[in-house]
Amino acid sequence: MALACYPLICYNLFMTESRTRHPLDPQAKPDDRVDNALRPQKLDDIIGQEQVKENLSILIDAARQRQEALDHVLFYGPPGLGKTTLAHVLANEMGVNIKITSGPVIERAGDLAAILTNLRAGDVLFIDEVHRLGRAVEEVLYPAMEDFALDIVIGKGPSARSIRLKLPHFTIVGATTRLALVTAPLRARFGAVYRLDYYDIEAMRAIVTRAAGMLDVPCEAGGVEEVAHRARGTPRVALRLLRRVRDYAQVRADGIVTRQVAKEALDLLQVDKLGLDDVDRRVLRTIIEKYSGGPVGLNTIAASISEESDTIMDVVEPYLLQLGFLDRTPQGRVATKSAYEHLGLDYVEGAQPRLL
Ligand SMILES: Nc1ncnc2c1ncn2[C@@H]1O[C@H](COP(=O)(O)OP(=O)(O)OP(=O)(O)O)[C@@H](O)[C@H]1O
Ligand SMILES: [Mg+2]
Repeated sequence: MALACYPLICYNLFMTESRTRHPLDPQAKPDDRVDNALRPQKLDDIIGQEQVKENLSILIDAARQRQEALDHVLFYGPPGLGKTTLAHVLANEMGVNIKITSGPVIERAGDLAAILTNLRAGDVLFIDEVHRLGRAVEEVLYPAMEDFALDIVIGKGPSARSIRLKLPHFTIVGATTRLALVTAPLRARFGAVYRLDYYDIEAMRAIVTRAAGMLDVPCEAGGVEEVAHRARGTPRVALRLLRRVRDYAQVRADGIVTRQVAKEALDLLQVDKLGLDDVDRRVLRTIIEKYSGGPVGLNTIAASISEESDTIMDVVEPYLLQLGFLDRTPQGRVATKSAYEHLGLDYVEGAQPRLL
């Protein structure tokens, strides 16, 4: 697609950040600040995700040996598993700058053109929520990713002419929680696509222990265990729970996170033994109690509990599916026998509406 010439002045308006944010950046929100300080900087600091890590290390080593920019990389998976972290790690490992933006922020094709023409060779452009790029914007991205070129139209009417601007070889790192919404042509232009999965309990223990050490939280093994088990396999949730448990230990106990202290704090937060919170349980209860176990459509569930259907789809469902508490059928969502058991509800074989 050809582009009308676009002033580059507005470049900074849609870049949320032009460099990796310093861990103690005072402008960061308190939680951001802690999260950024805890963000692993190098591939070796990343706990878990062994397969993704191994693939990335090959990608990085090969690019370094050939002294080339990294191929374009796409990360997908539920929120809080490390997509943004890995984008930073890639840039750090390659020793290049990272610029950060996101799909909905780049509104016009010209916005993207301005960002691209400001990149230097090797730079990483991280596009979060890459599934939310507009069509016109995507069309500028295709030749940019493939041929490192930008087609620009200069002038108007009969005197208009198109010129092709060469771009330096840069790397796009995309992230999405919804791979299915990334269009096929865009997906095809990423040389490497990695899925991030929920972390196993061993990795969660290591993440909680590392964070407790970095935050200076005195945490006994039992305390680590409780937080790790209830963090739904998600590092971001683990860090959040650890902070709340630390508060509880400070205010209601002697500051030390024992198993008992962690248990009390997490019970008070209504996070159960499997990491389900109030919203997760409301989703399951709605399906079971209002719709006899399902099938019921996502929007109906969302309306019943006054939650956004996007939140249910991105945050709630993937974990319930992983636990085997939910089935996704063409007719809608169905609660499984294990979900009834977890909530302490009676499951009567054959009493659920039959699937077509
Ligand atoms: N493997 C890991 N080891 C240790 N900490 C991690 C790991 N992965 C992520 N974290 C921590 O979890 C937090 C959330 O990670 P990150 O922001 O990268 O998730 P995300 O996948 O980009 O989420 P979203 O989809 O919401 O953007 C980060 O602050 C980081 O400190
Ligand atoms: Mg992110």
